[in-house]
Amino acid sequence: MIIRSNPINQCREPTGWPGRFVLWTMNIRHSKVTDWGLKHISIEKHDTILDVGCGGGRTVRKLAALATEGKVYGIDHSEESVAAARKTNEQWIRLGRIEIRQGSVSYLPFSDDMFDLATAVETHFYWPDLPADMREVLRVLKPGGKLIIIAEIYGGGKHVRIQKLLEKHTELTNMALLSVKEHSEVFSKAGYSDVQIIEEYDKGWICGIGRKPL
Ligand SMILES: C[S@@+](CC[C@H](N)C(=O)[O-])C[C@H]1O[C@@H](n2cnc3c(N)ncnc32)[C@H](O)[C@@H]1O
Repeated sequence: MIIRSNPINQCREPTGWPGRFVLWTMNIRHSKVTDWGLKHISIEKHDTILDVGCGGGRTVRKLAALATEGKVYGIDHSEESVAAARKTNEQWIRLGRIEIRQGSVSYLPFSDDMFDLATAVETHFYWPDLPADMREVLRVLKPGGKLIIIAEIYGGGKHVRIQKLLEKHTELTNMALLSVKEHSEVFSKAGYSDVQIIEEYDKGWICGIGRKPL
């Protein structure tokens, strides 16, 4: 059973005023790990990009600033996240450079082979069926397109105490904290090629990158 009012579940699916507060803090707290992760991929000016679990929308804004002649879509299953991401990106939404939609990673409302890049920051550990959900992201990537997953907690990382606490209360958190090896395996099993898992051990950060085969 997932108890919605606990802080972890405000991160899994922000709701109401506590959710709005959590989204505001996440836009600030996740900025550095996001910048670090994005350094590991190249973003072209015409790219069409999807940010899954877009939360308060800061990553969407960063991506739109990099893909200067492209388009960035954000998707999130939380109504509160969608509202916050739309507010963060009001101007670029008006210009047609950004679009924010409500929906689940498990059923993306996009056609096959649409995106050059998909990003997922601090969200994949909440997805209901990670291998199937990563295959759903694969479906919407163009052949040769990439998925990058970025997170500041993972199995075997620096933040052992937090990790143990989350694992101990797994019935409340329902989070899947994969190790480096397990991240690599889940990318490969989902059908990605050229899989790379990069750790910044001192900070406790991880990013995983996989490509849709041509
Ligand atoms: C911890 S927040 C991270 C938000 C943002 N990516 C950031 O870095 O600040 C996780 C986000 O993922 C969204 N999320 C979780 N599970 C999801 C799912 N199955 N489908 C779509 N969005 C999901 C949540 O609603 C929340 O907005």
